Amino acid sequence: MDFKQQHVIITGGSSGIGKATAQLLASKGAHISIIGRTQAKLEAAKTEIEAARSHLNQRVVTISANVADRVQVEQAINTAMNQIGPPDLLITSAGIAHPGYFQELPIEVFERTMAINYFGSLYALKSVLPVMEQRRQGHVVLISSGSGLIGIYGYTPYSPSKFALRGLAESLRGEVKLSGIHISIVYPPDTDTPQLEEENKTKPIETKMITNTAKTWSAEDVAREIIWGIRRKSFAITPGAKMMLLGWLHSPLASGINWYFDQIVAKTRCQGATRW
Ligand SMILES: NC(=O)c1ccc[n+]([C@@H]2O[C@H](COP(=O)([O-])OP(=O)(O)OC[C@H]3O[C@@H](n4cnc5c(N)ncnc54)[C@H](OP(=O)(O)O)[C@@H]3O)[C@@H](O)[C@H]2O)c1
Repeated sequence: MDFKQQHVIITGGSSGIGKATAQLLASKGAHISIIGRTQAKLEAAKTEIEAARSHLNQRVVTISANVADRVQVEQAINTAMNQIGPPDLLITSAGIAHPGYFQELPIEVFERTMAINYFGSLYALKSVLPVMEQRRQGHVVLISSGSGLIGIYGYTPYSPSKFALRGLAESLRGEVKLSGIHISIVYPPDTDTPQLEEENKTKPIETKMITNTAKTWSAEDVAREIIWGIRRKSFAITPGAKMMLLGWLHSPLASGINWYFDQIVAKTRCQGATRW
C-alpha cells in the first residue's frame, strides 16, 4: 500500500502508539485525522505530526470526541470525511487499561474499559464501513494487545475487551474481504507510552512479575510493525518474536479453519444466496 495522499483516521492518535503511527504515516505522505478527548493533547500531537509530513499540502485534522459515545464517534468520522475525504485507512488505537485484583475493582472499571476499548472501536468501524464498501476499498486496523491472545493475571477488565476485538476482527474478516476491505488486528507487547505509565500505578505485583519477562517496546517500533503489516495486508500483526509465537500457537488451527470457512462463503455467494 502506498500511503501518499491517502486519508488515515486514527482514534487515540494524540498519544502513544496512535500518535507514533500517525507520524510515520505522515512521513509517508498520508493525510491524517486524529480523534481523542483532550483538546490540548490533540493540538500538541498535530504539531508533531505536521512536523513529520513529507509534503506541506498534507492535511492534519484534530477532532475531540469520546469514543465510548456512539453519536460523538459518528460525528467525528463525518467531520474527518467532510474535511479530507473518504478514509482509506482506519486505525482504532483509543484505549485504556486499569489493572488490579478482580475483587477490588469496581464494576464501573469493567464497563468503562469495554465501552472505550471494544465499543469505541466498533462505533468507528461501523461509521467507516459503508463508505469503504461503496468504494470497494479500505483497510481497518484494530489495536488489541498481547492480553487479547492470552488472559493475563490482573487484567480482568482489559483482557476481555481486547479478546472482544479479536472476536470482532476474526468474524468480520471474511465478510468484508468480498467487498475489497482488509481487516488487521494488532497485538502489541508492553509499549512505553502514557498508558503503560498509568497502568503501572495500579498493577498488582504478580502482574508486574509476569509482564517484566518481556521487553518494553517503543511506540515508534510498534508503529513500524503496524505499517509493515498494513503493507503486507497481514491479518494478525504481532510485533516481536514472542507475540508472533503467541499469535501462531494460541490457536494453531485458526488459519486452516479460516481458509475452510472462506471456501464455504465463496461457494454460498456463487450460488447467489446473498445480496452479492
Ligand atoms: N502501551 C502498551 O503497553 C500497550 C500494549 C498493548 C496494547 N496497547 C493498546 O494500544 C492502544 C494505544 O495505547 P497507548 O499505550 O498508545 O495509550 P496512550 O498513550 O494512553 O494513548 C491513548 C489514546 O487514546 C485516547 N483515548 C483514551 N480514551 C479515549 C476515549 N474515551 N475517547 C477518545 N479517545 C480516547 C487518548 O486521548 P485522550 O485521553 O485525550 O482521550 C490517547 O490519544 C490502546 O488500545 C492500548 O490498549 C497498549
